[in-house]
Amino acid sequence: MKALKQPRGLRGSVLSFSAAPEDLDSPGVDYLDDAVVLLADGRIEAVEPVARYEQAGGDLAALEDLRGSLIVPGFIDTHIHYSQMAIIASYGTQLLDWLQRYAFPAELAFADPAHATLRANAFLDRLFANGTTTALTFTTVHPGATDALFEAAAQRSACMIAGKVLMNRFGPEGLLDTDSDGVAESEALIERWHRQGRLRYAVTPRFAITCTAPQLAAAGQLLARHPGVYLHTHLSEHPNEVQQTLALFPEARDYVDVYDRFGMVGPTSIFAHGIHLSDAELTRLADAGSTIAFCPTSNLFLGSGLLDLERLAAFGVKMSVATDVGGGTSYSMLATLGEGYKVAQLGGQSWHPAKALHAATRGNAVALGLDDRIGRVAPGYDADLAVLRPAAGSVLEERMSFAQSLTDQLFAYQLLGDESAVARCYVAGALAHQRAAA
Ligand code: GUN
Ligand code: ZN
Repeated sequence: MKALKQPRGLRGSVLSFSAAPEDLDSPGVDYLDDAVVLLADGRIEAVEPVARYEQAGGDLAALEDLRGSLIVPGFIDTHIHYSQMAIIASYGTQLLDWLQRYAFPAELAFADPAHATLRANAFLDRLFANGTTTALTFTTVHPGATDALFEAAAQRSACMIAGKVLMNRFGPEGLLDTDSDGVAESEALIERWHRQGRLRYAVTPRFAITCTAPQLAAAGQLLARHPGVYLHTHLSEHPNEVQQTLALFPEARDYVDVYDRFGMVGPTSIFAHGIHLSDAELTRLADAGSTIAFCPTSNLFLGSGLLDLERLAAFGVKMSVATDVGGGTSYSMLATLGEGYKVAQLGGQSWHPAKALHAATRGNAVALGLDDRIGRVAPGYDADLAVLRPAAGSVLEERMSFAQSLTDQLFAYQLLGDESAVARCYVAGALAHQRAAA
């Protein structure tokens, strides 16, 4: 572990949201051009204009001077696979073949706890380098892979959500569990990690194709026995997957009903993708208060389809945003928002940069029910922060020098930014990443 520095306070521009905006003139947009963010005991103690801080006798020299940077809440990624780092950007297949050819072989390596520990630490380093401070992540079927992730997160005081994958068919021998082992291992992991500090557990059946009806039933029962635990799975991502799912569960009305029959559709359920859903399915998800995680880079890369954001909103379905690495092609939530903008454009829609930044911060916190702790730069919130600043010599820096407004700046960050635009990342008030000097 790197030595972590606990600063007293930061000085820079600050942007955060207390409500979902339409644009940057909406109520609930909290922007301060020259502000002080004071940190204490892993929390944000105060956020105030520099002038007020000085008037109250505050010592400017004691602050980290980040003028020229934009301090935003640490990003939240609501669907990612820490077990798929090795196969990000693997050529030539769509979902079901991609799983067999790339994802499953990569996940087999996590039977080795030493490999899992190495990858878990690399994963958190990578997230922090991208300004992402919370993730809801798939692990693998091996319980040790989930222990490794939680151990690494606990060492860094990071707010992470994970769960052992449940899958008992359509995978290679070493990736399949039995119903009873899967339940017992999940129970033990919940006992060990759920609500330990900033950690939370998610019951994680891979998707209906890899889970028999008894295993889905067991997942639903786990949820019922452990209120507050999340349900994390995939739903209606690719047309071939939808077709195969309906063939495997002929008694179900539709794909959502496959999960609904087993008690898996509720307010703490996060369904990745949800692209090819009927009106009836969207209505059911809205009624249940479930969330669809929009994964634009993955949906484009795997040729899965284009999520219709306005249709989701019209049905009142909660939407979060996510990278879905390794199907997704970037860890950067900035780049993910940029690709999300392009997906919206292909549907004749525009995703305002204020809405997009809100989605990646407070919006995702709301989806996870954690909006009382994370997703804002405001007093009392956990001190998870991303400090954005274009890298010296980058196209983003050049574009930013011509920016006409804060909206223009935000849009440039989203369309041109990535890991290189993150100057620093703070996790629970400690410096968790600092970009290397040019
Ligand atoms: N559906 C089932 N498993 C996976 C996975 O690992 N990645 C994606 N993108 N979709 C899935
Ligand atoms: Zn996924």
